[in-house]
Amino acid sequence: MIKYFYIESYGCQMNIYDNEIIITILTNNNFIYVENIYKADLILINTCAIREKAEKTIYNRLLFLNSIKKNKILGLIGCMANRIDYKYFFKKKLLNFIIGPDKYRLLPNIIKSLNDNRYSYNVILSNDENYNDIIPNKLYSNNKVSSFVTISRGCDNICTFCVVPFTRGREKNKSPISILNECKKLYDLGYKEVILLGQNVNSYLWNEKSFIKKNIINKKKSINFTNLLEMIAKSLPNMRIRFSTSNPQDMSIDVIKIIKKYNNICKYIHLPFQSGSNRILKLMKRKYTRLEYINLVDKIKNIIPDCSLSYDIITGFCSETNKDHIDTLNLMKYVKFDFGYMFCYSHRKGTYAYKKFKDNVPINIKKYRLKEIIKLQRKHSFYRLKKYINTIQEVLIEGISKKNKNYWYGRNSQNSIIVFPKKNYNIGDLVNVKIINNTSATLIGI
Ligand code: 5AD
Ligand code: SF4
Repeated sequence: MIKYFYIESYGCQMNIYDNEIIITILTNNNFIYVENIYKADLILINTCAIREKAEKTIYNRLLFLNSIKKNKILGLIGCMANRIDYKYFFKKKLLNFIIGPDKYRLLPNIIKSLNDNRYSYNVILSNDENYNDIIPNKLYSNNKVSSFVTISRGCDNICTFCVVPFTRGREKNKSPISILNECKKLYDLGYKEVILLGQNVNSYLWNEKSFIKKNIINKKKSINFTNLLEMIAKSLPNMRIRFSTSNPQDMSIDVIKIIKKYNNICKYIHLPFQSGSNRILKLMKRKYTRLEYINLVDKIKNIIPDCSLSYDIITGFCSETNKDHIDTLNLMKYVKFDFGYMFCYSHRKGTYAYKKFKDNVPINIKKYRLKEIIKLQRKHSFYRLKKYINTIQEVLIEGISKKNKNYWYGRNSQNSIIVFPKKNYNIGDLVNVKIINNTSATLIGI
């Protein structure tokens, strides 16, 4: 009989949150969560499919887990579920079951009904699974200061490079009441920060009749992301609020004004632009132009001058020329982002780009362009951090600095990492820190 389960997770913040949902579902059904893989009867591997590298890592891990698993049951869940060649994996006895991100409620029954000769597979994407009623159990969470709260799942955009709409399905929003209850519960547990998660938080929409965005007809009578942010900020004035990801085309002036209005909403926006070239943006089916993106950044900086900004960039998308790449570098130079996340393009089976375009930028060029972007970002990060010198920053202490155990590390509202001497402060405290120095990634204060 399976009793003890272990779970490991790959990929984005959404998967970390999903782990908590899964732990809650299983522990509510009398399974026991263990942090030591060797003590488990069941190993769950929560997967990511966004780039080829992630998938390769997971395939290697699966082989390793098979080498140590003995009589343990092995289940693959998450974004790779509906991409994996399940017949092969079952035939080779490498996996016992595969369950997609919308079917976690089935886990207890699936596990109970497994026996040596049975395999289970359910990767159906649902239009109505938002796990609205499940408030994650935080007992096993390592971070007791900051917590993710998923507000929407899936994505209704179809960027041509992206597998998310196929691995996680259509956008499904959680009810504002359920989100607020979850935030309140976290506050009662002592959490000081929530990070609202969605593939596209700014397109959040919910009303009494539907939580499936595509079915909502009367937008005026619905609750949008601005309303949701304000509701949480007002109800929990001592809770810091962050959110990710914002897609440029859905970022409204109203949201920017609400960020400005409430002290507890962090002044930081993650605003992926992917490419600075209009030609590439069009091929990617992103719904904004370079100029629209620049205008949006100008508006944000106008309303909230101290707002920090970050991006995602893909280098070497199909047919990207050096001129397109220079457009990307120039856009970076214009904005001088505080942070950035940059990736080499990975041609993902099932996407529009995979079907219609050639992955024709050689890997060495993708990597070279990536290097240039990283180098430029380092310069911009240094420039942005330098501006904090001699200022006082309000820092939420998250833990002990990795480099010096006598220092805390934490973040300011703008999401910059700040380290400073511990003194008598504690994890979870909000403290004023004077910034005295910086590297390209960290602020040093007293
Ligand atoms: N190749 C490289 N990067 C990708 N991303 C999404 N799909 C791909 C892909 N096929 C990046 C995008 C996105 C981030 C989460 O991952 O930049 O914003
Ligand atoms: Fe993927 Fe585009 Fe949706 Fe982001 S907005 S998850 S890149 S399809």
